[in-house]
Amino acid sequence: MKKVTAYLLAMSVLIVLYGFQANQINDDVPAGEKIFIENKCATCHSVEAAGIILKKKKKTVPDLSDVGSKLEPAFIMKFITKQETLNDAKHMYGFKGSDEDLKTLVDWLVGLSKQNAMDSSATKCDSTVTKSDSTKINN
Ligand code: HEC
Repeated sequence: MKKVTAYLLAMSVLIVLYGFQANQINDDVPAGEKIFIENKCATCHSVEAAGIILKKKKKTVPDLSDVGSKLEPAFIMKFITKQETLNDAKHMYGFKGSDEDLKTLVDWLVGLSKQNAMDSSATKCDSTVTKSDSTKINN
């Protein structure tokens, strides 16, 4: 009888935990990814490398999985806070969070490209990203 009670207890704990997780953003999600989702970036952008896939793909909005190998982190920060232009246009959406969140977000995005580069070719993941990080981020 004790065993049955323990089993039922364990099951209900699991069910409660499952329901809780389904409603919350999972705690395993990196901070940068949470900020990305909370700031509505994911309503326009997919980031397939992080499993963020839009139900309806928007042709005019780039996937950001590899953006770190194309753009400097410092530029991305300025671009998404509308202080810089890309192809003569400002970003459609201004990031409204704190500077700290902005940095966490961009670090996460850029980090995805590093991972991609390491996956595909070991030589590509040199220090391009870290270099720009330390030289350009403060200006
Ligand atoms: C309303 C839709 C929309 C939202 C919301 C949005 N973006 Fe964008 N974003 C775009 C479009 C469209 C472009 C392409 C602009 C261009 O190429 O000139 C873009 C471009 C970018 C780029 C450059 C990508 C590249 O490959 O050139 C980055 C980085 C970016 N967005 C990050 C973000 C982040 C981070 C957020 C959340 C804070 C966000 N975006 C929210 C529409 C959106």
